[in-house]
Amino acid sequence: MARARRGGVGWRTVLAAALWLLVVAAEAGKYNAVFNFGDSLVDAGNLVTEGIPDYLATARPPYGQSYFGYPTGRCSDGRLVIDFIAQEFGLPLLPPSKAKNASFAQGANFAITGATALDTEFFEKRGLGKSVWNSGSLFTQIQWLRDLKPSFCNSTQECKDFFAKSLFVVGELAGNDYNAPLFAGKDLREAYNLIPHVVQGISDGVEVSISVFAVFQHAVCSFVLTPCACCSN
Ligand SMILES: *[C@@H]1O[C@H](CO)[C@@H](O)[C@H](O)[C@H]1NC(C)=O
Ligand SMILES: *[C@@H]1O[C@H](CO)[C@@H](O)[C@H](O)[C@H]1NC(C)=O
Repeated sequence: MARARRGGVGWRTVLAAALWLLVVAAEAGKYNAVFNFGDSLVDAGNLVTEGIPDYLATARPPYGQSYFGYPTGRCSDGRLVIDFIAQEFGLPLLPPSKAKNASFAQGANFAITGATALDTEFFEKRGLGKSVWNSGSLFTQIQWLRDLKPSFCNSTQECKDFFAKSLFVVGELAGNDYNAPLFAGKDLREAYNLIPHVVQGISDGVEVSISVFAVFQHAVCSFVLTPCACCSN
């Protein structure tokens, strides 16, 4: 699986997800829509909506076998954390934002396999352009939401009302940012050096979401990886 994490998901991620689900359960019914940004850990099929690349193992069985019964483009045999979050709110599974014919009235999943928190230019400037996928950075995904916005609301008041009842989940993201130096054969320290940039990039994305979509701060949650949180260890 290209750009996939090696080995299993780290215990910290699992613990964070479990705690998060407890919080979510207590909040059931609070939101009318959920919007998610992220990478392969939360891609619900965006990478495969325009055709399945030959090299992509996640588009073939056994992916999808334990819940959907067929591959959906999720890098999982079943549901993703974001799928459980939507279900805890009594909402349908968020359709991938690129899906044709999907209804986004209760949210959309903008995550795409290979996504980075930072834009491609950041990596190109550091000579790491070849080891990132450029399938859709956080800011690209926010632009996809902007493009979709008229299907939810038009007037300022309408948008305020709509997004006030929406939950924004930013993440999981950043694994591929740290993979960029690692896949280029650089030292692990290079990945650590990216941390301040990644954290800044994600907080900028959250700020933009708050200002553009008039989301209340409490309705934005983010999952960020530190280098190798999802490597085998
Ligand atoms: C989209 O919906 C139309 C009308 O319901 C249907 O004919 C068409 O097959 C659908 N397309 C896809 C890609 O599902
Ligand atoms: C917003 O305006 C566009 C263009 O007129 C329209 O297609 C869309 O349905 C409107 N959105 C809502 C939520 O009414």
